[in-house]
Amino acid sequence: MSHSRTKIGVAAVSAASVAAVALAGVAAQADPKEPTLGGEAPIDLKIGSAVWGQNELLDYDPDDPNEFQSILGSEFNSLTPENDMKWSELHPEPDVYDFSGADAIMEFAEANGQEVRGHTLLWHSQNPDWVNEAGGAWTCQEARDVLEDHVATVVGRYAGEIYEWDVANELIQDDWDEGGVKLRTEANPFLKACSEDPVALIGDVFRWAHEADPEAVLFLNDYNAEGINAKTDAYYDLAQELLADGAPLHGFGAQGHLSLMYGFDDSMQANFERFADLGLKVAVTEADVRMPLDENGDPTEEQIALQAERYDGMLQACLNVPACTSFTVWGFDDARSWVPGVFDEGYATIMTEEFEKKPAYFTLLESLTDATPGRSPRTPPGLNK
Ligand code: XIL
Repeated sequence: MSHSRTKIGVAAVSAASVAAVALAGVAAQADPKEPTLGGEAPIDLKIGSAVWGQNELLDYDPDDPNEFQSILGSEFNSLTPENDMKWSELHPEPDVYDFSGADAIMEFAEANGQEVRGHTLLWHSQNPDWVNEAGGAWTCQEARDVLEDHVATVVGRYAGEIYEWDVANELIQDDWDEGGVKLRTEANPFLKACSEDPVALIGDVFRWAHEADPEAVLFLNDYNAEGINAKTDAYYDLAQELLADGAPLHGFGAQGHLSLMYGFDDSMQANFERFADLGLKVAVTEADVRMPLDENGDPTEEQIALQAERYDGMLQACLNVPACTSFTVWGFDDARSWVPGVFDEGYATIMTEEFEKKPAYFTLLESLTDATPGRSPRTPPGLNK
């Protein structure tokens, strides 16, 4: 196994200078002379952020970006639609598609020299009412027809423009869920309709996506899927079953939603390696590291340092496995993070609400810089336009 991306050189940005900048709390600027995460990454690894196009990009003017848009456009070379390509946003009624948010992301990415990861085509969550209501009543053939039409329409619309698709998201439940680790045949309306042979349906969703865009790299994606555990064992079996059946499965994504309330699973690299050994790509698709905060809503110094370590732990697992194609953060600033709305925790992203770069940001930057000696870094997004 090659370790060409492990740390082998002298960091261009020393730890001391990184710390000094971190302490100064310099707000992120879209200064082309400043190093960026995407610009420092090895040429075969994309660094992405999720963004909600409907909320953040409809008013985008390339000649007059706001501060958020400016950082998004310069810091990252990949974008994932945080919600805009989910069923509830894209396909609110049986015969109605709304591509406004998704198109805004595609246009922003194009203007900034970025690539796009699609998210997601088959999931038990964020489905429109009409799908949830029909789910219990569909025959398997009816569910298949609806899903095939959606996949062909959505993947076809962006064919050639999306480099990776999270085709199937969160297919397998956790060991603490009722019934234990198994396919979500109750919660997912499509799997429910086809519960006699859900794997056949899953394989066909990959086939439909592949037909619509033969170039896109097609992923399974889930949370609690970083290390080797009962859930990833089930994914390992599922991946082998799909591949044996000839399904065009190309990748396995670990979301990377971590919390400092739990430990870091050191088996992440080994987990990625076993999927890579099946011939799959791997990716960190939704990284954030949340934590419980004090009564003022602040983290401790120890938590801030540990957060940087955890982000870097995930990046190292990716850098050390050549099959790892992308490392995406689930939003880069705390003001837009999904975490406080869902968990009683916060401070999960790599920049504060005021876009101050946290130590986690500088640690990622340093690791990416260290990973590139002797390789051509990617052209910083925006500079080649
Ligand atoms: C989250 C979004 O960030 C929120 O804005 C939305 O309200 C709920 O979904 N795993 C996934 C993502 O695959 O799609 C989820 O995104 C976060 C968990």
